[in-house]
Order: sequence, then structure tokens, then C-alpha cells
Amino acid sequence: MKFQIVILLLIYFVIVCGSGNTLLINLFYPYENLDKNSHLFLRGDDCGLNWDSGIQMKSDPDNNLFFLSIDVDSSCSGNELQMKALVDDNDWQIGANFMVDISGIQNYKGSDSVSYSFKGYPWFYTTDGEYKYIRNVYSPQLNNTRDLVIYTPPSYNENYLKIYDNILVAHDGQNLFNASTSFLGIAWDCQDTINNLVNEGEMEEVVMIGVDNTPDRDNELTYDYDPTQHEGGKGNLYLDFIEQTVIPIVNEHYNNRLQTSKRENMGILGSSLGGLISCYAGWTRSLVYSKAFCMSSSFWWNSQSFLNNILVNFPNPLKNSSMNFYLDSGDQGDDQDDMVETQSVRDKMKSFGYVLNDDLFYYLDKGGWHNEQYWGARFWIPMTDLYPPIPKKPTSIQN
Ligand SMILES: *[C@@H]1O[C@H](CO)[C@@H](O)[C@H](O)[C@H]1NC(C)=O
Ligand SMILES: *[C@@H]1O[C@H](CO)[C@@H](O)[C@H](O)[C@H]1NC(C)=O
Ligand SMILES: *[C@@H]1O[C@H](CO)[C@@H](O)[C@H](O)[C@H]1NC(C)=O
Repeated sequence: MKFQIVILLLIYFVIVCGSGNTLLINLFYPYENLDKNSHLFLRGDDCGLNWDSGIQMKSDPDNNLFFLSIDVDSSCSGNELQMKALVDDNDWQIGANFMVDISGIQNYKGSDSVSYSFKGYPWFYTTDGEYKYIRNVYSPQLNNTRDLVIYTPPSYNENYLKIYDNILVAHDGQNLFNASTSFLGIAWDCQDTINNLVNEGEMEEVVMIGVDNTPDRDNELTYDYDPTQHEGGKGNLYLDFIEQTVIPIVNEHYNNRLQTSKRENMGILGSSLGGLISCYAGWTRSLVYSKAFCMSSSFWWNSQSFLNNILVNFPNPLKNSSMNFYLDSGDQGDDQDDMVETQSVRDKMKSFGYVLNDDLFYYLDKGGWHNEQYWGARFWIPMTDLYPPIPKKPTSIQN
């Protein structure tokens, strides 16, 4: 055992002090979750790592930190390093591989070596996330009360050090997870879709904040008054409620583990009027959100005022920030689920510079109707479009 440690220290010494740029992999995982004699190992596809046997990471128990320094100059062949951690080189990390964009490091031409670091939060034993309620949340903006329902992804309880980057606010919380509270008894089952996609490595983990609707739904989810409906127009108060009341309450409840203050992290999603208000929020509140998911949106509202007024008269958020939209519809039932209205919004966004399959995603659900069953069945599409696992740029650290 002592001999092995000496050898490892020697290897570590040679790697850290050898010439060339280095990438320090820092993985945070609660030390107390591991057996006393357990270690984390790292496997990967390049830079001296392989998928058949791992390299033991060093550990810093006081900081719940496991680390390994990798030489990126001599031994790497690709632009992207993929890795997974294993407990005792046996129990694999769950979810997508850690991916580091090493192209910038390899291209470094200076005479001194530079160190870079990458931070990750693995988990090994939990495949299911869970949803929980925060009951009777009062809205001072709207003077009413509703429940919130929050889904936390698989890692949440096991790796309690992880801070979440992807936060998705969703309307009509009653319909998202639980059939017994859903409209006509059919839920989207978002928890199953996200659990499966995360376990398959097809999307990053996402925390979902479901906001229940109230009897005043038609007013809350619309930004202006529709004379043909004799209602509408509390949408901005509802969006203020989400920002000023819902998000702070949820974050406090979840020990501030949600990074809600960065717009890059924030998404907003809904269907029908919930799709309309999500697109409205994405277009008019780009300091708060960077992703808007608008499913079977009621773009017919107030003679298509989203198309003819909001898109035209509010500044295009793409111009100074990266903004992403997902639009979809079915083609069955009343007005073919607003298929044509949705395509008009898509085309107007394209005319403003949005690019299909880059920052504008569109899906036509052929045979799709306007109900929970269809929204739940295609929920995986917006999730994989806008939360794909992608390589992260490493951070440079001073020598
Ligand atoms: C808020 O709603 C309650 C009933 O739910 C009502 O009694 C009260 O007057 C309302 N307050 C305001 C300021 O509208
Ligand atoms: C689903 O909703 C019902 C009715 O409110 C509740 O009794 C049940 O506990 C919920 N299920 C879960 C898993 O929270
Ligand atoms: C975009 O520009 C406007 C006007 O200059 C500014 O007020 C807003 O904060 C900017 N938005 C983002 C997301 O940077």
C-alpha cells in the first residue's frame, strides 16, 4: 500500500512538473458517502486516459475534493477530452461524460506551460430525481395563493455539493409530474423523461420549478387584453411574481443550490397560454431568461398580438445576448393546434436573425393534438435541443 502511494506521488510529480500545459481535474463529491478505503478513479478517451482502467485521483477529504493533473501537450489527439469518474475503478459515474474543450490548450504556443482547471460534480448511485411541493405560496403581485412543485434531478441528494446551472420555470405545475392533480388526469411525466435522458447521457441535469395555475389562469398567462375573450393582461404581474417571489422562495428552500441570478442558466416553458407567456418572457425579459420553450402556444391571442406587436415593437433580445427559442405545435384539432400561427412566429424570428437549429428550434408534431398527453410525449425534444451535454472550456489558472 505505502509503495503504491509512493509510485502515485512520483507519477503525480512527473505529470505536474513536466513541461507542457496541464489540466487539473477537480471533482467534488461528499467524502462521507464513500467507504473509508475507497478512492475515485478517472477514465477517459484521450491525453493518457483510457476507458478500460482508471487512474487513481488524489484526495483532499477536508474539501470533499478529488483531483488529478493531466498533461495536455504530448499525449492528446483530439480537441475534446471525455472523462468519467469511478468509485474504486468499479462503480461508474452516472449521466453524461465530463467533457472539456482542450483545443485552446493545445494551440497554446508560449514558452511557459500554463495550467487549466476543470470542475465537476459526479454522482454514482442515484438514477431517479424527485419532485416535492412548496404549498400555499402567496403572490403579493396577484393577491392569490398557489402551490409550487419542484423537480430536482438524480444527483441532488447524493452529491449535495453540486450547484445547479440549469433552472427551468414551467407553468401549469399541476400537469407536469402528478397524474392525480393533472387536467383530465394525464400528466406530462417530466420527471421520467428527464431521469431517462440524464441517465442516457443525452441531456444535462435540470431543476424544474413548476408554478401552479389558478382560476385566474387566462389573465395571468396573457400580457394584453383580448376583446374577443373579454379578459387578459396580468402577464407582467405573473412574471414579476415568478422573479420576485417564486425563485427566491425556491432557492432558499433548496439551500441556494440553484444559480438563478445568471440569465444563461434560466429557462421558461409552457404550453398553450403557457407557451405564449413563455415566448413573451423570453422576448421581453432577456436579462432574466436565455431559453424560452413555447409548446402549442396560443399565438392566436388578441389577433396574433405576439407576432404583430410584441415581436415588432420590443427590442430583439438576440442583438446583444444569446437568446434561444423552442417552438412547436401539433396539426390536429381546432385551428390545427395553431400550426400556421406558430410558423409565422418562427419565420418572423428568422427574419430578425435567428437561425434554425442554432438559437431557434422548431418541431411539428404530425398527428399531434392540443393536450397534456402530446406535450408530455414530445417533452424530450425541447430538452435535448436546449440542454445537450456540451464540452466546457477549462479555466486558466496562474502558475
Ligand atoms: C386580496 O384578496 C382577498 C380575497 O382573496 C380580498 O379580501 C382582498 O380585498 C384582496 N386585497 C386586495 C388589495 O385586493
Ligand atoms: C400527487 O398529488 C396528490 C394529490 O395532491 C398527492 O396526494 C400525492 O402525494 C402527490 N404525489 C407525489 C408523489 O407527491
Ligand atoms: C441589451 O441592451 C439593452 C439596451 O442597451 C440593455 O438595456 C439590456 O440590458 C441588454 N440586455 C442584455 C441581456 O444584455
